[in-house]
Amino acid sequence: MHPLLTIAVRAARRAGDVIIRASNQRDSLTIDTKQRNDFVTEVDRQAEQEIIQIIHKAYPDHAILGEEGGQIGDNEVTWIVDPLDGTTNFIHGLPHYAVSIGIEVRGRLEHGVIHDPVRGEIYTASRGVGAFLNDRRIRVTPARSLEGTLIGTGLPFRDFTHAPAYYGMLQAIASKAAGIRRAGSAALDLAYVASGRLDGYWELGLKPWDIAAGVVLVQEAGGIVGNLSGEPDGFMDSGNLVCGNPRLFAALVRDIQPHLTPSLMARS
Ligand code: IPD
Ligand code: CA
Ligand code: CA
Repeated sequence: MHPLLTIAVRAARRAGDVIIRASNQRDSLTIDTKQRNDFVTEVDRQAEQEIIQIIHKAYPDHAILGEEGGQIGDNEVTWIVDPLDGTTNFIHGLPHYAVSIGIEVRGRLEHGVIHDPVRGEIYTASRGVGAFLNDRRIRVTPARSLEGTLIGTGLPFRDFTHAPAYYGMLQAIASKAAGIRRAGSAALDLAYVASGRLDGYWELGLKPWDIAAGVVLVQEAGGIVGNLSGEPDGFMDSGNLVCGNPRLFAALVRDIQPHLTPSLMARS
């Protein structure tokens, strides 16, 4: 395993321990609202602190972009950290959330770890090496069209600017797929596409820490990640992302494109 990935796994496990301990004492949880429907608990902050400590012990100079703490430092290596992806699930005791750590080297995503502490699952990937679930190689599914597929997504819940366009996409895709899932953790949605539990996934308005690790996982599992127009870039800035195996990616983009508004196209 690449040394950077080894540290990322250690950090993700430690954060997972913090989250599981706190999940057993949810009654005493302090919940703050960052903005409407955007919650943070002391668990998010504690988990991020644990991750930062482990990274900086091994690599004191590396930069970190954390959801809770923002950007720390400036370096050719940036760790992109979501200490608890699926906070709304966590707050409600719904056991579906994860720790996500992506590593960008000179502007390119190179490594990713997603840890589901509830199921004890660790997803890892390094560019050129492949994607793994608990050391077992994983691949995207071979689905050739939307028929019969299970597709992950996220519903608009904070910013409703693009909700009409999104629901147009949802109607088009749901009318062809076997099922749609809104499970509440973008990191796990991506890990599930990489491991074949979902055939594809799309969501609008994501943040870099939601997707950095998952992008490497899906790509290393043989999938394609792109923006709403089907281009292989732009999604880290826009937060609008589509993924799946190459054929399914194209099929999703075909059903998404008719619903793109000028403002979505400008920031696809
Ligand atoms: C959220 C989850 C959710 C997605 C949201 C994210 P958080 O992350 O990934 O599935 O729909 O866009 O913000 O806030 O729980 O870390
Ligand atoms: Ca998140
Ligand atoms: Ca989070």
